[in-house]
Amino acid sequence: MSSLLIQNAVVMTMNDQDDIFTGDVFIEGNRIVQIGAGLNARGADQVIDAAGKVLLPGFIQTHIHLCQTLFRGRADDLSLISWLKEKIWPLEAAHSEDSVYYSAMLGIGELIRSGTTTILDMETVHYTDFAFQAIKQSGIRAVSGKVMMDHGTEVPVALQENTQKSLQDSVDLLEKWHGAENGRIQYAFCPRFVVSCTEELLIGVRDLSAKYGVMVHTHASENTGEIAIVEAERGMRNVVYLDHIGLAKPNLVLAHSIWLNDDEKRIIRERGVKVTHCPGSNMKLASGVAEIPFLLEQGIDVGIGADGAPCNNNLDMFQEMRLTAYMQKVKHGPTVMNARTVLRMATMGGAKVLGLESKIGSIEIGKLADLQLLDLEDFHVYPSFDADWYSRVVYAATRGDVDTVIIDGQLVMENKLVKTIDKKVVLKEADRSLRNLLQRL
Ligand code: GUN
Ligand code: FE
Repeated sequence: MSSLLIQNAVVMTMNDQDDIFTGDVFIEGNRIVQIGAGLNARGADQVIDAAGKVLLPGFIQTHIHLCQTLFRGRADDLSLISWLKEKIWPLEAAHSEDSVYYSAMLGIGELIRSGTTTILDMETVHYTDFAFQAIKQSGIRAVSGKVMMDHGTEVPVALQENTQKSLQDSVDLLEKWHGAENGRIQYAFCPRFVVSCTEELLIGVRDLSAKYGVMVHTHASENTGEIAIVEAERGMRNVVYLDHIGLAKPNLVLAHSIWLNDDEKRIIRERGVKVTHCPGSNMKLASGVAEIPFLLEQGIDVGIGADGAPCNNNLDMFQEMRLTAYMQKVKHGPTVMNARTVLRMATMGGAKVLGLESKIGSIEIGKLADLQLLDLEDFHVYPSFDADWYSRVVYAATRGDVDTVIIDGQLVMENKLVKTIDKKVVLKEADRSLRNLLQRL
């Protein structure tokens, strides 16, 4: 088992006591085994001197579409339903094994480079095995699954699924990938949103997710037009409908959850349903402002995610953290959400959404070593004397400050260079792959 000692860092633990101290963290294999000051460097295979650097848990993004990274900049300035029907679905329909793989590699490169160590991901209908290959090779921790869509209008033929085949393809991927790489990779069922799914499919997802004990990841109540379609077809509001068919349970993660009435907020709270906030996407698609302070006050677990590259257009948790705070301040006043609350959402909040709070999300003995080191010796994050560390990290730092990233005990980035992904190759192949995809459109 290899060991790594990180010395002299400002350690922001994100534990329940919000402990911050200057000291060391000792990693053995994939776990944090010692935390303290002046730990003995003898016996460590590798030592990182982190004087002047900040050690944080890696960010956990609870809503990502790796398969859309190749579509960055190709669907700007639209609202959700036209964004999907005119741009994203035709592009996803033109995917191949190769384009899904390079889309994922490009996205994961960006994520690791900016300090994200775990994602909840939603892929496209086909070729999801190739996204899992990219996840495996890159070293990122991921809960992912193929998107499921067996219903809806204006869906390209290549994305139209047969109900039973969609369920079977999902189970096949689950059996291959759930628990792979010593548990670093997990499977989640991903019905796209109610608009794209028959009741039969959603009931199948309910039963299979219970049978296998895995998460269900979907979009809900992102856009008023989406809700109108659900109400017209199912005669109920979105979350009421999900509850009606028995999907509203602690393993359900709802991306966006902007337009909720009181009944839906009550269902989410009482059933232990999880919520993902996507501020960049919600602003760019003009979807709306989610009631995050209210949801947190109610004790609902809320994570943060960048969503896909074509609705953001980055996968950068530093941007999402600032937007999370700033958009609520505009609506509810400056005291409604502080930097500490936001950093908690980006770490432990995400861990709770994924049901992984005993394994990741904070720097504590026994937890998995998913960490990032920030180098804050720069103009834009000074002065440092007597610093409020939460303020510095959330309101001033940027992704360029991430220096080192460790996932599952593996150094996946060092000195600002991602070691598990060949950047030159991936950038070149992403362009080539997208060119071919556009020819298939
Ligand atoms: N709703 C259904 N599909 C999608 C998607 O791919 N992205 C977003 N933001 N919302 C969706
Ligand atoms: Fe999304």
